[in-house]
Amino acid sequence: MPLERAEYLSNVWKEGIFNGRVAFVTGGAGSICSAQTRALVHLGANACIIGRNVEKTEAAAKDIATARKGAKVIGIGGCDVRDPEALKKAAERCANELGGIDFVIAGAAGNFVAPISGLSSNAFKSVMDIDVLGTFNTVKATVPYLIESARRNQYPTADGLTGGRIIYVSASFHYTGMPFQAHVSAAKSSVDSIMASVSLEYGPYGITSNVISPGAIENTEGMLRLSSSKTTKAQIAASVPLGRWGTIRDIADATVYLFSDAGNYVNGEVLVVDGANWRLKTGN
Ligand code: HXC
Repeated sequence: MPLERAEYLSNVWKEGIFNGRVAFVTGGAGSICSAQTRALVHLGANACIIGRNVEKTEAAAKDIATARKGAKVIGIGGCDVRDPEALKKAAERCANELGGIDFVIAGAAGNFVAPISGLSSNAFKSVMDIDVLGTFNTVKATVPYLIESARRNQYPTADGLTGGRIIYVSASFHYTGMPFQAHVSAAKSSVDSIMASVSLEYGPYGITSNVISPGAIENTEGMLRLSSSKTTKAQIAASVPLGRWGTIRDIADATVYLFSDAGNYVNGEVLVVDGANWRLKTGN
């Protein structure tokens, strides 16, 4: 069953605000990144999603394409973000088949729950490699296309269409620390740090670079991996200051904001979308 618009996009956004734009999304078959991509496609963009699993990635691309009649969504499976050459080829294919790259979502990530005593060096390194090296490789492979897009779409554009933008999907638990997540916390801190460097290094080209940090988002692979079987859904909701789980729509809406004409002057920022959960943990 294809998702209804209300499940992945609020009704405040106008149709067509991403007409002719192209999004390149790593981890695009995952629950959060596929919703982000679906929202962009719904509002006019075409997209290329990257993943390791061929069948899963191709099926997700087909499904996301149903968000808008005439949408083109390419699924490039068998592409590991740890492999810079594979990513470079994927970016080339995206640009050749869809006409460029205007938006990048660096979303590919690895996660499992493990105490430090049960975490081998290789396990720690695997997550660091997927999240950190993968993010670096993604930026490196796509930035030549983003420079071109930002050049074509210099602020203020006549039609309000934007280009040359990056969003990194991070998390919010590493701002306070989280047990059994030393590997992921270290990786997500580094992702935030790459975002900051890119915002300064490529800001002068007109490229914006921002992090979205999701909190507890319901029905996502990340939360399935993180939730302990002893904690109920209601207990998790009650622990968030806003009293509810986040939704994939909350993350998709934040994405649309940052890529839209409304997000023109936001660069080098972390947009935490977690109902203020991380602040509660700091005692603020
Ligand atoms: C301890 C583990 C482990 C576990 C794997 N390893 N699972 N150690 N506890 N549960 C160890 C292995 O034993 C091995 O170490 C090392 O990790 C590498 O494992 P491989 O399976 O060989 O690596 P690879 O195939 O590259 O898989 C990477 C992975 C895997 C991260 C381990 O889980 C994966 O592919 N994940 C991708 C999908 C994913 O995680 N999605 C969730 C994203 S959500 P040894 O020493 O034995 O060689 C997300 C959200 C976070 O990130 C924020 C939420 C709010």
